[in-house]
Amino acid sequence: MHARVAAVGGNWKMNLDLAACRTLAGSIASAARAETFGCEITLFPPYPYLPAVESQLRGTSVRLGAQDLCERPNGAMTGEVSAAMLVDVGVTTVIVGHSERRHIRGEHDALVAAKLDAALSAGLQAVLCVGERLEDREAGRTLDVVLAQIDAATASITAGRFSGITLAYEPVWAIGTGLTASPEDAQPVHAALRAWTRDRFGALAAEALRIEYGGSVKASLSADLIAQPDIDGFLVGGASLSADEFLRIVRSVEQSSLSTAP
Ligand code: 13P
Repeated sequence: MHARVAAVGGNWKMNLDLAACRTLAGSIASAARAETFGCEITLFPPYPYLPAVESQLRGTSVRLGAQDLCERPNGAMTGEVSAAMLVDVGVTTVIVGHSERRHIRGEHDALVAAKLDAALSAGLQAVLCVGERLEDREAGRTLDVVLAQIDAATASITAGRFSGITLAYEPVWAIGTGLTASPEDAQPVHAALRAWTRDRFGALAAEALRIEYGGSVKASLSADLIAQPDIDGFLVGGASLSADEFLRIVRSVEQSSLSTAP
């Protein structure tokens, strides 16, 4: 049984317009009013649509997330958005270190660590993303890469603040490619991340840590992935743009929790 409450995030990335965001959030909010989800759901719309999505989600259990934040609290940082601004508009959770920011925007480990610190300091929950590129996997360096990423990002994080973090293992070769990691690919990486956490922050922190899988997650594959002992949910990209598909993934997570309950 998963001792942790599973979590499913919908990372909408730079997609949709205002009307489509309202419709998609409204559909998920309606489902959340009609049924009790056995997992935590967070939607991550683009920045400008946060208030519109917040008003759709208000009064439901669905949480509002942001896709990124600035590491600085305020000031001359044209185009950036601070943690406090996110809190101000109702955001509870923020993605940090997504591979698209690491590899397309060139965010290095020190910046990821600073963003993580800024998020946790503001009282936000953080979804810290790690993941290897195809060449890393082919060279047998998957664990070296992901453990170095978590190590660098959390270097200045105390055990008390670590509880504000959810990890997302997102192999770069599986993101947006239609190639989903198999349970056999993903589970050892999740287990290694949990073992690393046990060594660094202790057994309780490791047991409480949620580790989501992300990378071309679809409803047809999610049940097999969530059945793995160290996979505690999903960070969904493309499939989260369809309410039906996203809710099918959410329900597969719930069913797994039920079917594995003692
Ligand atoms: P896809 O599900 O579109 O592969 O995206 C995964 C992801 O990057 C979620 O953050």
